[in-house]
Amino acid sequence: MRRCIVVGCGGRGGYWTNRVLAGMKDQVEVVALVDIDEEALAKGAATHDLPESALFEDADEAMDAVEADFCLISTPPWIHEENVRSACEHNLPVLMEKPIADTLEASVRIKKMVDQAKLQCVIVQNYRYSPFMLAFRDAVRGGSVGRLSYVVARFAADYNPPKMWGKRFRHEMDHALLIEGSVHHFDMIRNVSGRDCEEIFGYGWIPAWADFEGNSNGLYVMKLTDDAFASYEGSCTTEGYENPWHHEYYRAECEEGAVVVGADNIVKILRVDGAEEVVEQPVGIPEQGEAIVLEFLEYLATGVPPQTAIEDNIKSVGMVFAAIRCDETGQPVNVNEMLAEAEERVEV
Ligand SMILES: NC(=O)c1ccc[n+]([C@@H]2O[C@H](COP(=O)([O-])OP(=O)(O)OC[C@H]3O[C@@H](n4cnc5c(N)ncnc54)[C@H](O)[C@@H]3O)[C@@H](O)[C@H]2O)c1
Repeated sequence: MRRCIVVGCGGRGGYWTNRVLAGMKDQVEVVALVDIDEEALAKGAATHDLPESALFEDADEAMDAVEADFCLISTPPWIHEENVRSACEHNLPVLMEKPIADTLEASVRIKKMVDQAKLQCVIVQNYRYSPFMLAFRDAVRGGSVGRLSYVVARFAADYNPPKMWGKRFRHEMDHALLIEGSVHHFDMIRNVSGRDCEEIFGYGWIPAWADFEGNSNGLYVMKLTDDAFASYEGSCTTEGYENPWHHEYYRAECEEGAVVVGADNIVKILRVDGAEEVVEQPVGIPEQGEAIVLEFLEYLATGVPPQTAIEDNIKSVGMVFAAIRCDETGQPVNVNEMLAEAEERVEV
């Protein structure tokens, strides 16, 4: 049994607290909850039968007061750094929601902090664990369609008024699409291609009618390792033809056909001779959040890093900050050079 402190138990943290961890009480004991919102604390306390003394408004105080084996962080992105700092000071491994942080510098500091403290840190990229994206990835990487040429990805949601993207902060922050949204799709491009992004170029913008203060739309092209490419369309202001969360469009163009999945979640291979084949999806697998916690527990037990350990995930969030730099400079950005320069410059 591993003991967990949940930091941020409202919003997405409510899913972790009241759904995922509520269903894993035989493997994880929630020993404390941290949130600045009383309602979120009360709901989590009821789920896990916790006394008042296990509820905190401050992560540091919780970690001082309660013994634990790891923490699960699900606060807004700009709070992640202070939460990870507290975790490192208390020798607690970290399972944390994407993105690593809201700036390149904070992301690199977080990576350095956990490296120096020799603590496991895993970033949640739940879309990797859906049955259709597991099937898509295996169809591309399994070899039956030959070598990969390029990947096309599309996320398009309608957050035009009166609709809204979850909490209001996404409409007020800088680079809302890239930081809160595209990090999932960039990570998925790496996941399905089995490649990293070398260089990225594109544009981000806010349509005149959008209810956003930071870029809500973007179009980017990427040069991947091993002679492959990718393109990405991201939009928070789409009317009519949507590919919203869990219904994104991905297409991998390969030597002997294309692998495609759209809003209906059906994965197909379209062969060069015109044959169309529906790809079977795994059944009976753990729900995304449960799969992630199980992988994390395995990491704690074995020391073998899972697929979205921070040392790998920095390359996905690196794509986000490289795209932001393109938005700002109008120039292509080399992701590895940008990350290496930041590692050199940024101090913990
Ligand atoms: N993986 C996914 O599919 C997914 C979906 C939604 C959000 N997220 C991520 O989850 C994280 C949280 O986003 P959200 O949508 O739940 O935001 P939210 O605002 O809905 O919830 C954040 C929670 O953190 C609490 N909080 C804020 N500051 C705090 C502090 N200093 N200490 C303790 N608690 C604090 C808030 O009261 C709230 O309960 C973000 O990193 C976001 O990108 C991931």
